Amino acid sequence: MEPRRPNESAGSAWEDAGFIASWDEGTDREKSIREMQMKTVVFMLPQPKDQPLRLLDLGAGYGALAAAVLADRPSARAVCLDGSEEMIKLGRERSAGLGGRMEFVRGPLDSAGWLKLIPGPFDAVISARALHHLTHEERRRLFRDVHGLIRPGGCFINADSFKPGSEALRGMYRRTRKRWVDPPAGDAAPETPQGARLPHGAHYNGLMEDELGWLRAAGFHDVDVFWKFTNYATYGGFR
Ligand SMILES: C[S@@+](CC[C@H](N)C(=O)[O-])C[C@H]1O[C@@H](n2cnc3c(N)ncnc32)[C@H](O)[C@@H]1O
Repeated sequence: MEPRRPNESAGSAWEDAGFIASWDEGTDREKSIREMQMKTVVFMLPQPKDQPLRLLDLGAGYGALAAAVLADRPSARAVCLDGSEEMIKLGRERSAGLGGRMEFVRGPLDSAGWLKLIPGPFDAVISARALHHLTHEERRRLFRDVHGLIRPGGCFINADSFKPGSEALRGMYRRTRKRWVDPPAGDAAPETPQGARLPHGAHYNGLMEDELGWLRAAGFHDVDVFWKFTNYATYGGFR
């Protein structure tokens, strides 16, 4: 059965500067994985490198993914949407030197209301490690919304984790990632079960074949997994 959102205000930890700092630390230990995952987003954008692009980064946090694209494409501009005021505050501070090329908007992705906050169209919609916080139903709706926002020739690329196809794979992926990170993580590293009540919002990862099917059903073509390591992936499609 599809996991459903519990009756709770999810994600409040993303308003806590201490939690964000400890998340950043964990992310930093996985730097070698995250870099490949995010660079795949940057390099898979189909437009010529000097074309002025308008990007939308969903669940952008302080805008790390959008910043990576802007560093590669000097004529690109980005709108970063996130639900956390604290993340947006950090993002505005960190992007102060970008001369207004990065704009932050606060809004919730788990309801269709976010579309009213962000006038399209965009050349690319991108996201990193955020959309697993949406239920499957919410993510399917979001994929359709996103398709409607993208100009023909554009793309949607999501760098996120997905649900392993079996418990055996879950264990092997987890062990492999723990050995990969620097320094290697001990057994105490916490696991994040599907739909569990976590301080930073429940996780609703989908099987990769479902995620790809939802993208195709939303209207995207050339849908594929562009990069994958254990159950981390960068996947998407084109309009
Ligand atoms: C793990 S962080 C990733 C941030 C950023 N994309 C990155 O990779 O650095 C997840 C982000 O998703 C945002 N988020 C989670 N659920 C959300 C929702 N329902 N609506 C809007 N933002 C949400 C959180 O506020 C947080 O900034």
